[in-house]
Amino acid sequence: MQTLKGKHIVLGITGGIAAYKSAFLLRLLIKAGAEVQVVITPNGKQFITPATLAALSGKPVVSEFFAANTGEWHSHVDLGLWSDLMVIAPATASSIGKMANGIADNMLITTYLSAKSHVMVAPAMDLDMWAHPSTQRNISSLIKDGVEIIQPASGELASHLSGKGRMEEPEEILRRVEKYFSRRESLTGKKILVTAGPTYEDIDPVRFIGNYSSGKMGFSIAEEAAERGAEVTLVTGPVALQTSHENITRIDVRSARQMLEAAKKAFDGCDAAILSAAVADYAPEERHDTKIKREKTDGLILKLVKNPDIAAHLGENKGSRVLVGFALETDNEHENAIEKMKRKSLDMIVLNSLKNPLAGFNKDTNQVCIIKFNGEEKEYPAKSKKEVAGDIIDELESLLRKE
Ligand code: PMT
Repeated sequence: MQTLKGKHIVLGITGGIAAYKSAFLLRLLIKAGAEVQVVITPNGKQFITPATLAALSGKPVVSEFFAANTGEWHSHVDLGLWSDLMVIAPATASSIGKMANGIADNMLITTYLSAKSHVMVAPAMDLDMWAHPSTQRNISSLIKDGVEIIQPASGELASHLSGKGRMEEPEEILRRVEKYFSRRESLTGKKILVTAGPTYEDIDPVRFIGNYSSGKMGFSIAEEAAERGAEVTLVTGPVALQTSHENITRIDVRSARQMLEAAKKAFDGCDAAILSAAVADYAPEERHDTKIKREKTDGLILKLVKNPDIAAHLGENKGSRVLVGFALETDNEHENAIEKMKRKSLDMIVLNSLKNPLAGFNKDTNQVCIIKFNGEEKEYPAKSKKEVAGDIIDELESLLRKE
């Protein structure tokens, strides 16, 4: 089946022995209907010839900034804009390092820096190079930059040593590419509300009660849903993050009450809501208009009042909409999460524990357990927040299909 019909893919090939497998990958992509432009580094050409790749792709291979015979300039910017997806396979430790640090000294890395599309990287190298702290640091930087890493497999390596470092097989890379494109349209026509970040409850013009939420989890969810075609309303507390996706309408709020009002309005037209905000449970009963002066008080007693529970409010009024909440727990995690899901009439709850050093506030990773109202439960390993967002949206989609 032509699962990739009409898709434009830039296939980047760097200088490693696994480059021979790229010919098989290229063939699979072409057979699936994709239009593929190969961009190869100078060292890549030592491992596989441009003639082979040009014959398989039906297009001249791009390698240098200028064509050797005509002197014509190859525009990395045009290529970056043309691509619906960029796949770099194999990616050597050196190319990964250049990508992580923006060292644009060849056509492939300049194309990567110009690419507006999603980028997948399939590393291939010796086990010690893969395990080296600098490679792992560069991989973490790429993950933070939103690059999808197709983890290398374990097995015999070109050095005849055995361990983790083999490029993933072309069939598996094709599966990831197909999954990416099928996900991209899976939420077209759906409207989704996402809450993110902390809320700030003002004490006076200079002080507030808040929490450590950075918004990373909620923004990743909003971006993932938008990338799959949903129209997303992102209601966020004060965070330092930016949004650029055209499908996201961002509403900035400060307090829990403001978040409730914005969420109520957006929820009306939505098919689903994912509530990842860390909403302050309490707010000062009174907000002072002027700064409370230290000299005028011996001590200070603040009377706090309960904030509205946004999740519970939407739960009471959800009708046929799907409602997903989060539970941030420190103890009795499962019991508390299930109790919250029931009390707030949620269809699904994402449990993350503050006990786990890879989960929670301001981390780039999270480790979650997704629990559904029907009792289904899935425990996931620690992943980047972007990947966790993918898992959450996969489960949301399964609930939307049941509607
Ligand atoms: O923003 P990051 O730095 O990336 O961190 C992500 C996160 C840790 C904030 C996120 O993963 C998370 O766990 N969010 C929920 C935090 C929370 O407030 O959990 P809770 O167990 O107190 O609340 C349960 C649910 O009710 C949540 O869906 C919450 O959004 C909602 N709630 C809570 C209180 C309230 N007054 N109104 C609500 O809607």
